[in-house]
Amino acid sequence: MTFRASHLLGIEPLTQDDIRALLDRAEHYVALNRGPSKHAEVLAGMTQINMFFEASTRTQASFELAGKRLGADVMNMSMAASSLKKGETLIDTALTLNAMHPDLLVVRHPNSGAVDLLAQKVTCAVLNAGDGRHEHPTQALLDALTIRRARGRLHRLTVAICGDIAHSRVARSNILLLGKMENRVRLVGPPTLMPAGVADFGVEVFDDMRAGLEGADVVMMLRLQKERMDGAFIPSEREYYHRFGLDAEKLAHAREDAIVMHPGPMNRGVEIDGTLADDINRSVIQEQVEMGVAVRMAAMELLAENLQLAREEAPPHG
Ligand code: NCD
Repeated sequence: MTFRASHLLGIEPLTQDDIRALLDRAEHYVALNRGPSKHAEVLAGMTQINMFFEASTRTQASFELAGKRLGADVMNMSMAASSLKKGETLIDTALTLNAMHPDLLVVRHPNSGAVDLLAQKVTCAVLNAGDGRHEHPTQALLDALTIRRARGRLHRLTVAICGDIAHSRVARSNILLLGKMENRVRLVGPPTLMPAGVADFGVEVFDDMRAGLEGADVVMMLRLQKERMDGAFIPSEREYYHRFGLDAEKLAHAREDAIVMHPGPMNRGVEIDGTLADDINRSVIQEQVEMGVAVRMAAMELLAENLQLAREEAPPHG
């Protein structure tokens, strides 16, 4: 059971075995991260560059910490201050960085597909930290690990993904992963926030929270991504909370032991009740953050191993 890819650009190309290999390896890092000494030197001597072309708090911090715990030299490029502002293209920036011999590039970009394009131009491993509305693979993996630990399995579960599905790469990567692992996925939200072509996703679609949550094992809430909306998709935030915001009353329709998830950042009182988000008996939001570091350590370790193998087989010229 091995993961043989050169990059982690999305969930789409992964097999069940790839997903299991990544999650099993992450378990090892969950244990390490809970101990007093959090270092494993598997990336010692390697260089990791984080390029975030979009704002990020937890994902960037998580990748940075993951790299440092694995012993890599980690550099955070401040993309706001970079030459992109002077008109340099994404590809030129990538080629410039590539000439500095990084081993791992972690990239977040507002355009769907930008990270794939970049991966074709560089000679190191690339991890997608979120590209537009397309994919956010490490988020789906950390969600999967959180679910597997909380529910004891990652198959034959009913997972309700609720809210702004249309603008969400988190939803897209989760739909792909949960589908591959043979779960039942429901999308719950107003029709204006459902993506085009949703009928082909192999999911059930609901525009009523109570019906959509009925009997669910997992309730995954999403942020209203206002920065990706060009126009009004909802009548008002108040109205949205009333119909689609998760509170104890709506959650009562899910299974008694259903867990509540949110990738963050949260809009309390818009998509989720603040008290519920903080309820440690229902909410696994903090566990998601914890699993994030472990999953990123696992993904970077496995990609670095594959990179080493590829370099041994075809040493670079010059
Ligand atoms: C998500 C993202 O950036 O796609 N956040 C995250 O990575 N934790 C979700 C969001 O921005 O709402």
